[in-house]
Formats: sequence, C-alpha cells, structure tokens
Amino acid sequence: MNKYYFYINNLELDIEELKSVFNSLEKNWICYKKPSNKTLWALSYDLDSFFQLKSSKQFKREYIDNVAFFMTKADGQVMPHTDTRPTSFLIPISGNFEKSRVEFYDNYLKAVTVSVDTDTDKFASSTTVYRVGVPDCRINYTTPILINTKIIHSVKNEVDVDRIVMSISFDKNLSYEEVYNLYTSGELFTASS
Ligand SMILES: [Fe+2]
Repeated sequence: MNKYYFYINNLELDIEELKSVFNSLEKNWICYKKPSNKTLWALSYDLDSFFQLKSSKQFKREYIDNVAFFMTKADGQVMPHTDTRPTSFLIPISGNFEKSRVEFYDNYLKAVTVSVDTDTDKFASSTTVYRVGVPDCRINYTTPILINTKIIHSVKNEVDVDRIVMSISFDKNLSYEEVYNLYTSGELFTASS
C-alpha cells in the first residue's frame, strides 16, 4: 500500500455532470486565510443534492461525511498542513492538473499555528501549517484519487488557471488504512451496473 494515495478509477463518475453542478452553484466560497493565493478556498455542497446525482450511485451514504469543492487560486498554493479528516477523495473538475501537484512530507522543520479568517464555525478557527524541506512524494493526478490527509501535504498551482476539485470526505472515524482496506475488499462502493 502506498501510504500517501491510491487511485480510484473504477467508478462510474460523470465528470461533465459534476462540472455543471459546480457551475450552477452560487459561489459562496470560504477563503481560509490571507493572502488568498496561499490558501484553500472551500465551497460546501449539500449531501442530499449529491446523492441525487448520477455520479453518486456507487457511493454508500453511511461512509460519506461531506462533499465540497476546493479551489487553489491561479499562481497559488495551499501551505503544508494536515486535515482534521483522515482522507479525502479528490475528483479533478477544472484547472491544469498536468502542471499542478500535491506534495507530501514525512517530516517538518517547524510547526506554526495560524488563525483562520473564516467567520463560520463549520471550519476550524485555527490551523497548523508546517515549514518543510524537500517533499517525500509529489503527485500530478488527472483522475480521481484518494489521499491520506493525516500526512503533511500542500498544493502547488503555479499555472495561470484556478485549480478546482470535488472533495468527498469519508466517515471521520475511518483511517486511511481502513478506507484502503474497504476499497480493496469491494466494500467501499457498490458494484457498477
Ligand atoms: Fe488538506
């Protein structure tokens, strides 16, 4: 098992459907922190609406915690951090995924707690970012991928377009290893039709 990520390519996802969902949403983005090109932007998406989509038919509701869209601004990045959730299933929606990437770090030089500028209690009011050295793993994914968000990770989007992904969070009680085992045993999703 790769401890950083694994690909999930056997789902019947309709990327055009997910793109049109994204395009139809009111863009009430939550920007976590200033400057806005060095942080994550989040747009939550209602779980009931998600489960009405054709693309969701193989997902088991009991395993899903929430769905959101995330944006990394053009010429931007998301600073090295860990998430409160253990895993994130990421589906590329728009951007230049060949030239942008996620990086993982096994170690850090220094941890810094920063306050978050959001005014909603849906998200944490502070977060920890890390000063890091050379990444231990880099990944340019262009197809759906599940990543281990308990390992320090960052996003580099050094291109001229915003990078937008759909992020599906599994049950917070399921570790990366447990999600991987559910996936490989065929339990995480229902079989394709
Ligand atoms: Fe993250």
